Amino acid sequence: MTDMHDDQTSPKPRLAIAGASGFIGTALRHHLTDDYQVFALTRSMTLARAPQREAGLIRRECDLFSLDAVKAALRGIDYAIYLVHSLVPSSRLTQARPADMDLVLADNFAQAAAENGIRQIVFVGGLIPEGFHISPLLWSRREVEMVLAARGTPVTALRAGLVVGPGGSASGLLIDLVRRLPVIPLPMAARSLTRPIALPDLVRAVRCCLGQPERYRGHFDIGGPDCLSYETMVRQTATLLERQRTIFTTPLLPLRLAALAARFVGRAPPALLAPVIESLPQDTILRDNPLQARLTAGALPFREALAGVLDEHRRRALPNPRAPLIGPERTRHRRAGLVRSIQRIILPPGQDAAWVAGNYFRWLERALWPFVVTTCDAEGSWTVSLRAPRRRLLSLRKLAVQSTAQRQVYRIAGGLLSRSDGPGCARFEFQTLLGERYTMAAIHDYAPALPWPLYRWTQAPIHGWIMVRYQRHLARLAR
Ligand SMILES: NC(=O)c1ccc[n+]([C@@H]2O[C@H](COP(=O)([O-])OP(=O)(O)OC[C@H]3O[C@@H](n4cnc5c(N)ncnc54)[C@H](OP(=O)(O)O)[C@@H]3O)[C@@H](O)[C@H]2O)c1
Repeated sequence: MTDMHDDQTSPKPRLAIAGASGFIGTALRHHLTDDYQVFALTRSMTLARAPQREAGLIRRECDLFSLDAVKAALRGIDYAIYLVHSLVPSSRLTQARPADMDLVLADNFAQAAAENGIRQIVFVGGLIPEGFHISPLLWSRREVEMVLAARGTPVTALRAGLVVGPGGSASGLLIDLVRRLPVIPLPMAARSLTRPIALPDLVRAVRCCLGQPERYRGHFDIGGPDCLSYETMVRQTATLLERQRTIFTTPLLPLRLAALAARFVGRAPPALLAPVIESLPQDTILRDNPLQARLTAGALPFREALAGVLDEHRRRALPNPRAPLIGPERTRHRRAGLVRSIQRIILPPGQDAAWVAGNYFRWLERALWPFVVTTCDAEGSWTVSLRAPRRRLLSLRKLAVQSTAQRQVYRIAGGLLSRSDGPGCARFEFQTLLGERYTMAAIHDYAPALPWPLYRWTQAPIHGWIMVRYQRHLARLAR
């Protein structure tokens, strides 16, 4: 891949940032262009094709759901930073848990990084609490860390708690809470302790370990100087904003209700806030390590970091740098009318993606008997048809070049249920990951032929139901 602004003669190492348009990515790309040629990866066509105004920055359009696109985007890159999560919708209908989408994204990135000989991936994950209860968000960050490391590229995982800086959703919620509510009831979980870190300190941590995979391989807990409860953070926010607020914790406010209430109070997308609130209940403990030792001197206290979150004039939290993209992206998804559906399948011992794919189509005929027939041709492509009257519902052409035992890729190439003029590259992929523990069954960019409301309330739930049954079927075999 060659870009207009790509300087092939530059002696600077080449760094790709996945998630460069986000809260942390924006700060990092501003600080790293002095030392690196920075390639900012984005799904957004608008962003990728906008006139380039940041010196030393090259944007590459890349949807991490496409392995081919990531491989192309990482060509010629030396180092990479991974800041992606899938809590914000990426299609008109998504039938998938964010944690499952995150596995697919991270595995594509890890594969592409290994193939391109990337020397190091730096990942920002979450601080893992002591004890056995780990929230779904934190567990997902942990899984992403494992998936990124599973293909052999050295990974430096920085595990951080709340990151406080301009555009951060959690620090923005603190400001919104105090600005909007005279009385602030908090769930009991708000008494748990954490180590917030200021965005400039996180940037320092990344700068410190980037380019040094031998020295900083593995995971490192990082945090600021204060060990605070969320309740204290709300109080300090009220002091900073000079607002008199009644703040108390109550057992009458369960965590789920608090997450729901945050939707109405906070301005960040609810999908981002709810998992953060569900991660509150446990004290997070920072384990000492050499990187944290280097950060301690000069680390910003929470109050100072919070002051940087505010827009000086309006005393409001600065928005996430991606905020202007949200509206146009939503409209684009609506217009495109595409579907993404991802399920995690526990792999029976000794099997692989090729087996799961073949087994799926055979099982489908049995599961939908007597309505559906599935047939396979000599190339391994499948057709799903209505039995009587015989009508082709879906044609799935196997892409032999992209397919291996660990990954089977089928192009959705027609049939009564698929729009042939869909804007994306509709495909059904089976991808084995995490040391063959799971196979992800993923439909990407599928354009349904049925009118959208009809599809939404008939075919979509039926597909969801079928996939859950298949998941259970294989889970039984795996036992
Ligand atoms: N914020 C915190 O307090 C905090 C604390 C601890 C850890 N972290 C972790 O740090 C990371 C970054 O967080 P953040 O707050 O900066 O997130 P953010 O502002 O919401 O940005 C997320 C980024 O992910 C990219 N992305 C999502 N799906 C993608 C896809 N399919 N292909 C390519 N890019 C995709 C988006 O890029 P485009 O839309 O441009 O494609 C966006 O730049 C996350 O992993 C998060 O869990 C954050």
